[in-house]
Amino acid sequence: MSAAPVKAPAGDRGDAMNTEGPFIRVDHLTKVYSLGKSARLGLPGRRSQAKGFTAVDDVSFDVKRGQIFVIMGLSGSGKSTIIRMLNRLIDASDGSITVDGRDVRSLPPAQLRAYRNQTINMVFQHFGLFPHKSLIDNVAFGLKVRGVDRATREAKAAEALTLVGLGDRIHAMPDQLSGGMKQRVGLARALATDAEILLMDEPFSALDPLIRKDMQELLVKLQRNFKKTIVFVTHDLNEAMYLGDRIMVMKQGRNVQTGTALDLLEAPADPYIEEFVAEVDRSKVLTAGMISKDPDPGMAAAAPGVPARSGHDAVRVSEATVLTELLPLLAAGTERVEVVDEHGTPVGHVTAETVLAALAPKEYSHAL
Ligand SMILES: Nc1ncnc2c1ncn2[C@@H]1O[C@H](COP(=O)(O)OP(=O)(O)OP(=O)(O)O)[C@@H](O)[C@H]1O
Ligand SMILES: [Mg+2]
Repeated sequence: MSAAPVKAPAGDRGDAMNTEGPFIRVDHLTKVYSLGKSARLGLPGRRSQAKGFTAVDDVSFDVKRGQIFVIMGLSGSGKSTIIRMLNRLIDASDGSITVDGRDVRSLPPAQLRAYRNQTINMVFQHFGLFPHKSLIDNVAFGLKVRGVDRATREAKAAEALTLVGLGDRIHAMPDQLSGGMKQRVGLARALATDAEILLMDEPFSALDPLIRKDMQELLVKLQRNFKKTIVFVTHDLNEAMYLGDRIMVMKQGRNVQTGTALDLLEAPADPYIEEFVAEVDRSKVLTAGMISKDPDPGMAAAAPGVPARSGHDAVRVSEATVLTELLPLLAAGTERVEVVDEHGTPVGHVTAETVLAALAPKEYSHAL
């Protein structure tokens, strides 16, 4: 049996895409908003900083090409400020931002325009559609303004609409759609642009829970196809863990911990993160790939799809299979489940023991 893939493979497994260095690199990034009298008088330098409010405080992180990097934290922790510094809607006070080797903070105006037009794209919470354009024209619009030829942009838009389940309605008008369908079109449009980086600031937080879940699944599906580098902001740790190859948890402007979902669950850096992870439903965020042990040598030699060990049809699942989907297999008596990547290559195995150990609540060293 092969359970439906739920999530793109975790970014840190050694595929070719991840052997290169960071695509986005942020070092010691700081933002001090000027406040009060000093701001009104326009006093420069230290004096105004002393009166300012430090919204982002010495934050460093990096993102590899093709990853979903999630910034998570409570309201006011500085998430939007970071995302807006990445596309220079807000100027940083200190630190550096490098994208594909280019120093973003020192881009001259013409290059900044090109960066904003071609490299990085901000996705807003309300995916406003053009009411007088058909779905395909809505989705293809971003490509049109970048001069992509009609055949190419329409093919890409149709592909994206098919992935979000609207392939048979590409010529419909937005007012013929339900609210949830409009959201799907907006998401398709965001992923179908040619910008390599998408900045998504709480795109799903206004949605009701069912539509939100649907959108999370669609984002993962579209991402598997379009392979963007995504910086995604959320308040919700379940969403962060479902989507994020890596997650940075912010508190009062600081980066408290950065790691995979498993890193945060297994070794939360402080009581603040422990409180968050206590709320997480491990069975829905941990995947077979995250908890699997070394592949069975017998399996590694087998061609994909061929039963590996004589006399046994090995049970295989994709590494994106969440633990809730594994439980029925284990409950039915399967002792060992092989985990394979998207190409069918074995990456490890799980047993009832490893799954139960991963689900068991942890005793952390920090006192709450
Ligand atoms: N233009 C501004 N001038 C002064 N302070 C600001 C400004 N913009 C944001 N702040 C402050 O900086 C802090 C971080 O704001 P930011 O919008 O980055 O938070 P956030 O994590 O995105 O919050 P939310 O989850 O509510 O969107 C907040 O305390 C906010 O009040
Ligand atoms: Mg915000």
